[in-house]
Amino acid sequence: MDLACGGGRHSRLLLAAGFQVTALDCDLTALGTLADHPGVTAVEADLEAGGRFPLAGRTFDLVVVTNYLHRPLFGDLRAAVAPGGGLIYETFAVGNEAFGRPRNPDFLLRPGELRAVFKTGFEIIAFEDVTLRSPRPAVVQRLAARKMTGRPPAKRVNA
Ligand SMILES: C[S@@+](CC[C@H](N)C(=O)[O-])C[C@H]1O[C@@H](n2cnc3c(N)ncnc32)[C@H](O)[C@@H]1O
Repeated sequence: MDLACGGGRHSRLLLAAGFQVTALDCDLTALGTLADHPGVTAVEADLEAGGRFPLAGRTFDLVVVTNYLHRPLFGDLRAAVAPGGGLIYETFAVGNEAFGRPRNPDFLLRPGELRAVFKTGFEIIAFEDVTLRSPRPAVVQRLAARKMTGRPPAKRVNA
């Protein structure tokens, strides 16, 4: 799943890697003819309208989210990753306001936030909170994680 896919740069990458892609955005105009590709299921939905997550109940081998943040979706995103599946999430973080948009704290991850959201039930493969210089100065968090397949081992309690 490519959530908030925009022009579909990651949908293209995923198609080329052999995935069937579900590309979701509130405006599919930018996706253009990619929406008609046989390997793509394009879903137009407003993720911030407050209704049920449009893909609720479905799970995906890989969920990709970039340059989009709507915190109420975190639970749906956790649920959307299939057991053993992956999550790649990158978006702007606090500190980015020094460089440009977004500046609104609603759209800026707090320090360590992405890692904390996916800490339980996911194996964190990589996490960065970095200041980028290229292609333009920006502060982002990046997370690659794999969803665990079973319950985490119960904590031992010493009698
Ligand atoms: C900055 S673009 C990122 C596009 C793509 N992920 C990328 O990195 O190239 C943000 C995307 O979020 C989508 N978006 C914004 N608000 C949305 C909403 N309420 N529901 C669904 N998509 C939304 C926009 O239409 C836009 O395509």
